[in-house]
Amino acid sequence: MRTILFTGKGGVGKTTLSAATALRAAELGHRTLVISTDTAHSLGDALGVTLSNAPQRLPGTELEALELDTGEELERYWGNIKRRLADELAAQGVSAPVAGELAILPGLDELVALVRLRHYQAHGAYDLLVIDSAPTGAAMRLLGAPDLQRAVSRNVRGLSSGAARLLMPALSRALKQPLSEMALQTQIQSLFDEIADLRQALSNRDLTSVRLVLNPDQLSLRETQRAYTYMCLFGLNVDSLYVNRLLPPSVQDPFFAHWKADQAVHVDEVRAMYAPLPVFPLTLQEREVVGVPALSALGRAVYANIDPSSALADEQPLRFESRNGYQVLRLGVSGVGTHEVQLDKVGDELRVRLGNFRRTLALPQVLAALEPAWASIEGHDLVVAFREPTPQQ
Ligand SMILES: Nc1ncnc2c1ncn2[C@@H]1O[C@H](COP(=O)(O)OP(=O)(O)OP(=O)(O)O)[C@@H](O)[C@H]1O
Ligand SMILES: [Mg+2]
Repeated sequence: MRTILFTGKGGVGKTTLSAATALRAAELGHRTLVISTDTAHSLGDALGVTLSNAPQRLPGTELEALELDTGEELERYWGNIKRRLADELAAQGVSAPVAGELAILPGLDELVALVRLRHYQAHGAYDLLVIDSAPTGAAMRLLGAPDLQRAVSRNVRGLSSGAARLLMPALSRALKQPLSEMALQTQIQSLFDEIADLRQALSNRDLTSVRLVLNPDQLSLRETQRAYTYMCLFGLNVDSLYVNRLLPPSVQDPFFAHWKADQAVHVDEVRAMYAPLPVFPLTLQEREVVGVPALSALGRAVYANIDPSSALADEQPLRFESRNGYQVLRLGVSGVGTHEVQLDKVGDELRVRLGNFRRTLALPQVLAALEPAWASIEGHDLVVAFREPTPQQ
């Protein structure tokens, strides 16, 4: 049983690819369920059917689909806590609807929705789950946070900064009192336990593939780079990338000449940046890709003779670890040969040069504040260790 999770920036084609992938997998005989965890669902619209919170078979296919009711999941895990927070805030004079909104942590709704996946994973009725997730990285960041409990309370404190500072006393009171009560403690603990299980499943390459969707433009490339770094930092298993909306060769209008040239450069960049992960290019279709026939056709075209339900990569070119008190980054550089390593850290980017091999890495926050201490080649990896910057004299 494998879980495939599509993610990427808003509007790049996550829902389209989730549906196309799931349809193709079902066509190949895998018992497949496609789930939208985005609160702003569009999976049903893309497939041309009305979906609900329970799995339903799509007419004319073997595929089942559902749109998770994140409100319902959130209520189950966070309802009591949310009401306590909201009451405290309302008592401080915050209007009820605003208090209700503030009592939900960013990303938490999608996170509790992801927990529902655990039930399908454990259930055994499917060979494949395909997840169409929300564009924001909030859920992913929460999910990846090494100490989730701390991350959640940091998030709550974050809410109280800036204009909302005034709410601080209410928040801290609300958090201190109710959280010390047994019932709520148990509830929160059970949520954290389920998330810990889910995190373990997501970082197991035998069980999960994260697939990144992007468009061939600079902003999308940069955002993907950051997302990828965080996925690797948290040990999530990215196994492929999808560059969607490339202008097809049939477009010959000179107006698009620069667009096409830039897009070709971006595809090459993506291939070089994520090698050896497979990169799937998808051309812009003549019209929106909606309905089962169009999405099935897209699925067949994208994967050709590859089975989309299998793991598409067996190594992760970027990994993070700590060693002897150093934070260490490992980058796969097989086939590069022996050259002097040149490192250049500019802001939160690390530029690596090894002979002809060049790569720019978006560093996670924990490393961006540090400076490279040493670098060496170990087997097929370039290993870079970071340390606290030496104070300027
Ligand atoms: N290759 C393509 N050719 C033509 N239309 C496309 C293509 N890919 C996606 N679209 C269309 O673009 C729109 C947005 O795609 P989609 O909903 O899959 O993006 P998304 O990443 O899921 O967006 P959101 O972040 O809002 O969830 C849809 O109308 C879809 O049919
Ligand atoms: Mg979508």
